[in-house]
Amino acid sequence: MATTAPTGSPPSQPSLTHSPPPRKLTSVKALSESPGLSSIPSIYTFPKQPNHEPVSDTKEPIPTIDFSLLISSNPDERSKTIRELGKACGDWGFFMVTNHGVPERMMKAMIEVCREFFELTEEEKGECEGKHVLDPIRYGTSFNPSVDKILYWRDYLKIFQHPAFHSPSNPPSFREIALDYSKRTRGVMKEIVRGISESLGLEDKYIEKASNLENCLQIMIANLYPPCPQPELAMGLPAHSDHGLLTLLIQNDTVGLQVLHKDKWVNIHPIPNSFLANIGDHIEILSHGKYKSVLHQAVVNDRDVRISIALAHAPAADAAVSPAPMLLEDGQNPLAYQAMKYKEYVELQQSNKLDGKSCLEHIRNRGI
Ligand code: OGA
Ligand code: NI
Repeated sequence: MATTAPTGSPPSQPSLTHSPPPRKLTSVKALSESPGLSSIPSIYTFPKQPNHEPVSDTKEPIPTIDFSLLISSNPDERSKTIRELGKACGDWGFFMVTNHGVPERMMKAMIEVCREFFELTEEEKGECEGKHVLDPIRYGTSFNPSVDKILYWRDYLKIFQHPAFHSPSNPPSFREIALDYSKRTRGVMKEIVRGISESLGLEDKYIEKASNLENCLQIMIANLYPPCPQPELAMGLPAHSDHGLLTLLIQNDTVGLQVLHKDKWVNIHPIPNSFLANIGDHIEILSHGKYKSVLHQAVVNDRDVRISIALAHAPAADAAVSPAPMLLEDGQNPLAYQAMKYKEYVELQQSNKLDGKSCLEHIRNRGI
């Protein structure tokens, strides 16, 4: 059933890996709906969250970027917004994007059709179960159950949207909605990446060219976090950074995302009809650490279903990104981040357990 119909440019599928296929596991959705469930199985129980610093009650708001000003033909408005964007990347690594032009109904339709997907029977969803970490359509639970010792309270659907578009064939309307949504979101991403490039003092198309954004890998990650009877013991997603360039996330009305800011976990309350954007490891690499990818995590609650849809935008599979030479200061080593093809990087991340910024650490040439 999980047909994949490439459109546009020819598919450039990443190469094979050798990691074992995920174990067959019950979805958390099915588990959360088991009658009388009042405690969670021990495989979902975290003894003590190692990086659960107290959640900050700071009212310092997450930065907001008005997209309409970023693409403004008024040069003063545009450069002011680019400065704000640079500050948001440097201070937080996370920001809201308003007035982006993607219709609200399209965002809502995307969330609804993902909800419908998760409501299919386990057999139906099982047809989308990928065998391999780089399969273009992968339904599953936790992060990587073949290496997760404790499972996360999360089911997911990951679909490659670009350079080749893929879609599950069920629900039938998924394809059309996702095709529109992913195209429009890519347009927003491209403008933000141009702004980030300029904010670093680079030519506006620098990052675009260096990462071959024309053939960028765009992956939709739909996350389902069902209500959990013991939310304080479970975790939706552990602390991690995103591996690509820029992630644009939308969600239903339930909060759950936390961002590490000044060593404190901050709850994020998204502005309705906005994107929550965050920079990934490859902006950190390109900017030579000037803008750092930021740790974030998802917590769960005992009342409401939470759905989030992240569109991760990454360099083309064969692009090997390294720091922009003009950003190196005297005495800094151009090899501080070892260049690695994106597909190898993502394979490294997806085949291992999700662990903070361990992938980025892996390619950092220490001591130089
Ligand atoms: C992700 C992610 C957070 C969320 O999918 O990479 O960080 O709020 N999701 O679901
Ligand atoms: Ni993430």
